[in-house]
Amino acid sequence: MTDPLLFDIAEVLIASDRLQERVGELARAIDRDYAALRPVLVGVLRGSVYFLVDLSRQLRIPHEIDFMAIAAYGTRHATTGAVRLLKDLEDEVTDRHVLLVEDIIDTGLTASYLVRLLRARRPASLAICTLLDKRTRRIAEDLPIRYVGFEIPDRFVVGYGLDFRQLYRNLPFVGVLREEVFND
Ligand code: PRP
Repeated sequence: MTDPLLFDIAEVLIASDRLQERVGELARAIDRDYAALRPVLVGVLRGSVYFLVDLSRQLRIPHEIDFMAIAAYGTRHATTGAVRLLKDLEDEVTDRHVLLVEDIIDTGLTASYLVRLLRARRPASLAICTLLDKRTRRIAEDLPIRYVGFEIPDRFVVGYGLDFRQLYRNLPFVGVLREEVFND
């Protein structure tokens, strides 16, 4: 059976095997940098879940996972970075090595808010690992981004955690949505 979601994809930007290969490379780098530090991988619901789980599975060092959920005020594109915390971490991160795991950093405003919030809790260290980086759209500078999977152009991408109206997250690749769907 053909996946009906596939009809809405104009182009595959990053194929599934390339994604998994890159996640493995990031995991090896994190294994090296965080050996013996027992880092906490902090995922931001909901988009980062797919990446975080694959990354966690490929890590060899002892580590923990935890999640936060936030909601932007207003519409996505009008965001000022003001977000509401919907779900906080389960555990304390004071004196812990925290790695914030994101599916994408676009304007950087979400990450900037989370970095401020987490730093206030005095972690031993705080760094960001993002699968995708839309560098050209950045507003917030000076983010502690330590690992980037792929730098991507300013196109509307879905798949591997990224959604359009809550769909397409389950696609195993990162693809560009057809304009007709986007403008519907
Ligand atoms: C996405 C992504 C980041 C944020 C990046 O989340 O997961 O958290 O947008 O954008 P920014 O750099 O411009 O702030 P989204 O709000 O789409 O929610 P989701 O994770 O539930 O898909």
